[in-house]
Amino acid sequence: MNPLPHLRTLFEPILTQLATNAAKVPDYLGMIRVSQNPEHGDYQANFAMPLAKELKKKPPDVAAEIIAKLPENDLLELPQVAGPGFINLKLQSDWLAQQVRSMAADSRLGITPLAQPKKFVIDYSSPNVAKPLHVGHIRSTIIGDALTRLLRYLGHSVISDNHLGDWGTQFGMLIHGYRNFLVQEAYAKDPLRELARVYVEIRHLIAKEAEDLAIAKRVFPDDIEDLQTPTVVQCQRETAKLHAGDPDNVALWQEFMPHCLEALHQVYHKLGILPFDHEHGESFYNPMLPGVVADMLAKGIAFESEGAIVVPNVKGNVPKTEEERKKEEPPALIRKKDGAFTYTTSDLATIKYRIEAFQPDAMVYVVDFRQALHFRTFFAQARRWGCSDVALEHVSFGAMLSREGKPLKTREGNASELLPLLDDAVELGLRSYRESYAQRKEFGHDVPELSDAVIQDIAEAIGSGAVKYADLSQNRNSDYKYDPEKMLATEGNTATYMQYAYARCRAIFRKGQIDDARFRSSPPAVMIVHPAERTLCLQLLRFEEALLSAAAEYMPHYITAYLWDLAKSLSVFYENCPVLTAESPELKESRLLLVDLGGRVMKQALDLLGIRTVERM
Ligand code: ARG
Repeated sequence: MNPLPHLRTLFEPILTQLATNAAKVPDYLGMIRVSQNPEHGDYQANFAMPLAKELKKKPPDVAAEIIAKLPENDLLELPQVAGPGFINLKLQSDWLAQQVRSMAADSRLGITPLAQPKKFVIDYSSPNVAKPLHVGHIRSTIIGDALTRLLRYLGHSVISDNHLGDWGTQFGMLIHGYRNFLVQEAYAKDPLRELARVYVEIRHLIAKEAEDLAIAKRVFPDDIEDLQTPTVVQCQRETAKLHAGDPDNVALWQEFMPHCLEALHQVYHKLGILPFDHEHGESFYNPMLPGVVADMLAKGIAFESEGAIVVPNVKGNVPKTEEERKKEEPPALIRKKDGAFTYTTSDLATIKYRIEAFQPDAMVYVVDFRQALHFRTFFAQARRWGCSDVALEHVSFGAMLSREGKPLKTREGNASELLPLLDDAVELGLRSYRESYAQRKEFGHDVPELSDAVIQDIAEAIGSGAVKYADLSQNRNSDYKYDPEKMLATEGNTATYMQYAYARCRAIFRKGQIDDARFRSSPPAVMIVHPAERTLCLQLLRFEEALLSAAAEYMPHYITAYLWDLAKSLSVFYENCPVLTAESPELKESRLLLVDLGGRVMKQALDLLGIRTVERM
């Protein structure tokens, strides 16, 4: 139900006829865009300027020629030429009204089924387990979840895979901690909590050792790898034993894993994210790693260098001489001198497995910008290795910062954990609801009296919705400032505002005691009387366009931008167009349809972002 393709179809034959170079027509058609200023029409076509250059004519003349060639149609009003040759396009209100009516009758809200659905594998969340989930992982989880929902809704097939880091040094830390610091009774009672405590204790110990040894003061302790304190050495030894298949360490790893996963799933549950199709962690690929290295060696893609096995980097040419080697970017390691495999080896095994198991068209990795180099080089290596028929995409995102723009820390100065943060958001959600309740009461609004359980449910929807929306409404490439106050604001581009806007749509039906079913099964005629109705109709029809562009660029913030525009048009509509007290029964029916459809679109768009709506607030 997207007006754009209709417009393109209308202009295509004319442009094909006029252009001397037919290859340029698709570019020209791409120059029909939503107009930034409604005074310049609903859409604006900017192709007259380049076409005039091609034809060596004046742009306004070419624009006039195009308009003169337009066939009679019920889509557009007579277009106007503006400025240096812009063509302003205004849709006919009758056409708009009819389209909105069909959209209301469609359970898919006018989203056209895809001609060529694709198969995606999306790798997201993917935390290193055995340590508490850190706020940094929240962005991958939220963005990946929204993209999965969106692509599925559009009709693609999506396989979601949580590529757990379940095989790293953190397990050496747990094993060492288990053997030396575990309190048995506590472990018997609540293994999860005791393991978390042991993990923190080890980290503190390492931090202290590092301080005593005056090892560089750096952001600690996220990565212990290069801090050679006695405890780190012991932990690394345990990790190496685990990797070598030591039965005791493997047994402990098997004992710990279910607890680690349980902790993780608690957070996912709280966040309300979709269950993953697969959670193949790094351990799953471990047995495949020697085969990867052997195959790459056999195919002449990898080579030995000073005892290690390396793959030449992005440029792809294997340096032959010492001179050449010095000039090359550093090649990627796939097996270290000591025989250990690397993150890259594991990702290469993963990609091969996924291609064989799922045959996807595209593989999407939702991972922090800091891994950009890893993905760039690993993609190049994978292509050389033969993974050439699959689109590879690193959907990167910026850092999550405090309101002051610093890395997020807890009061104790550690990097923030996720769970308390979510609990705080729900707490704030509850406060926000109570404030709004009191305010609406004071203004004499009709506020529903709700039970404590219902209010708690609303607070949870508000709290987790606020966290998600604040993240998703940013261009994902920007750093994102975590600001609870701002994200829970009841005015502006926030989840809370959208949730209230949705509840307001529902309240009208409750207040009028009107059943919404008939606005969907046999929608009444849509009447466009007031400009605010026209704007709202246009906005409703742009839903598909917003979803398609968000999916094409993996940019969820296009959906929140759409929601924000929709919410604004709804609010202007309410100001100008009485619904329950409309002048005629036909107009009332038409307006009820707009309210119902507005609510449905809001709910659907929020749902695609993984955000819950409630019927009354
Ligand atoms: N576990 C990694 C980390 O926390 C992210 C993994 C991303 N996925 C991948 N296939 N490399 O940094």
